[in-house]
Amino acid sequence: MQTFLPRVRFSDVASLPKGVPLYLEIGFGGGEHLFAVAQRHPEAFFIGAEPFVNGVASLVDMLHQNPQVQNVRIYPDDIRQVFDALPDGIFDGIFLLYPDPWPKVRHEKRRFLVPSQQQQLARLLKSDGWLQVATDAADYALWAQQVMQETGLWRQTQKDIHCPPADWVTTRYEQKGLKAGRVPSYFLYVKN
Ligand SMILES: C[S@@+](CC[C@H](N)C(=O)[O-])C[C@H]1O[C@@H](n2cnc3c(N)ncnc32)[C@H](O)[C@@H]1O
Repeated sequence: MQTFLPRVRFSDVASLPKGVPLYLEIGFGGGEHLFAVAQRHPEAFFIGAEPFVNGVASLVDMLHQNPQVQNVRIYPDDIRQVFDALPDGIFDGIFLLYPDPWPKVRHEKRRFLVPSQQQQLARLLKSDGWLQVATDAADYALWAQQVMQETGLWRQTQKDIHCPPADWVTTRYEQKGLKAGRVPSYFLYVKN
């Protein structure tokens, strides 16, 4: 990983290709989803952020083994560190799949969709940009629906929230939850 990561590491906005759709995945875990969507969409470009070293190593390995997939850059840390350096309307879409649920009420402010972070995500999206959220934590799903509505920044367009989108890519994390009997919810928010 040490030798290949620098080749695929996200450095700055100037290094991104111009005039192509750009997507962000926050917390890509093992990278299965990010790798699959990048492979399916060579016409687009993807940035993925993940501080978990084993997850980064897994995605780096997939990219190394599949050199035809050239459209991914990795930020191997907390994405919030780079938010302020990114311009308004840079992304066409953002994936936030199975964010850490922080189930305790006293940890609620750590949840990724707190209003201040929603403002930041909305700022980074184009005017018709979308945010895809998945969670299998029932409390988080209820909380997210409420706080996303309260900010007035989004409209939720997923018709059946328990039915995955048609082109859905599952991950080990999602499969583990399904085996444990957890029920995923899928929300597609379009920026107002
Ligand atoms: C529950 S896991 C889900 C992983 C993956 N999205 C999936 O569905 O398989 C949540 C991931 O989000 C990452 N994460 C949490 N906060 C983050 C942040 N601020 N920036 C980037 N990644 C973050 C964690 O390290 C963790 O790997």
